[in-house]
Amino acid sequence: MIELEKLTKRYAGPSGSVEALRDVSLSVAPGEIFGVIGRSGAGKSTLIRCINLLERPTAGRVRVAGRDLTALSAAELRAARREIGMIFQHFNLLSSRDVFGNVALPLELRGESRAAIRDKVMPLLDLVGLSDRADRYPSQLSGGQKQRVGIARALATDPKVLLCDEATSALDPETTDQILELIRDIRDRLNLTVVLITHEMAVVKEIADRVAVMERGSVIEHGATYDVFTRPQHATTRSFVADLIGFNLPPALEKRLAAARLEGNSRLWRLLFTGPHADDPVIAELSRNLGLDLAILHGRIDEIQGRPFGVMVVQARGDDARLAAAKSYLASRKIQVEELNDVVTIDRAAV
Ligand SMILES: Nc1ncnc2c1ncn2[C@@H]1O[C@H](COP(=O)(O)OP(=O)(O)OP(=O)(O)O)[C@@H](O)[C@H]1O
Ligand SMILES: [Mg+2]
Repeated sequence: MIELEKLTKRYAGPSGSVEALRDVSLSVAPGEIFGVIGRSGAGKSTLIRCINLLERPTAGRVRVAGRDLTALSAAELRAARREIGMIFQHFNLLSSRDVFGNVALPLELRGESRAAIRDKVMPLLDLVGLSDRADRYPSQLSGGQKQRVGIARALATDPKVLLCDEATSALDPETTDQILELIRDIRDRLNLTVVLITHEMAVVKEIADRVAVMERGSVIEHGATYDVFTRPQHATTRSFVADLIGFNLPPALEKRLAAARLEGNSRLWRLLFTGPHADDPVIAELSRNLGLDLAILHGRIDEIQGRPFGVMVVQARGDDARLAAAKSYLASRKIQVEELNDVVTIDRAAV
């Protein structure tokens, strides 16, 4: 549905040019929710604005639904943009128009009749749960309601693609979840393709099928959300996901471990549970059948896109043979084991 090919964008600035995008190539499949994450200034907004050519890339090609937007005339581009809806962090509603009037605007601009507009707008308000607020003004709405208006307006021209630029960043966590749920619901019903940029990894985890990580204008990593979360390759990605997947030790525990000394046959392991064996009773197996003495120090079990994963930090005590048997058992269950003894040392009494 969307193909970006070697996009580069340079902005001229007072102190030389800024390269906001460097050689970015990505493709997004029909019906997919594609997340783009990166720190402030990474180039996310520039990227998303290049998809509807609100920004014209300095080099590279943008194809949406098979059409090369960079090759279109101004009039053709205006028509093509109707297939691409967009929503924004600060909603961008007209304060002088009520809810109905805001959603009707793109249809009025297109010269639709009043009856046609009414027939289009009312079902959209119903879809976003605002049919009883058609005559309210933006100042009378909550943030979540304003974003619902923004979504209805974006859908007014029956787009194939919905671009979301930090659409939930101004909302509280509960409202964020409701808006994400609405976006997912709309994707399912209308088979929309969604590109969603955010600096919140929790948003990506909640909703994105695939994700690209941006840094300084480049895509440094991309893939299925599950894979990027459970096997982040790049240091920046690792720092994004660490807290969410429980990869980092809580600071107080880390301090205690660092201050303590390692006891003889005691190992500190971080276990990563993914894949088909993530549900297996591994801890019971280790302690009961392999005779290891286990203390669970930290852990988190969660799921992404319905697939379970978990991270657990354990202190395992046993003789060398038992520790070795445990490691090969874990390997047979495709559970990754990372030795943390090199990172911190530990004393049982300190735990
Ligand atoms: N119109 C512009 N003129 C000049 N420089 C710009 C312009 N727009 C963006 N930039 C620069 O391009 C780089 C990328 O900006 P962009 O807005 O795409 O980042 P972002 O990832 O969306 O950041 P944020 O999370 O803060 O919204 C930044 O260095 C920014 O200063
Ligand atoms: Mg931005």
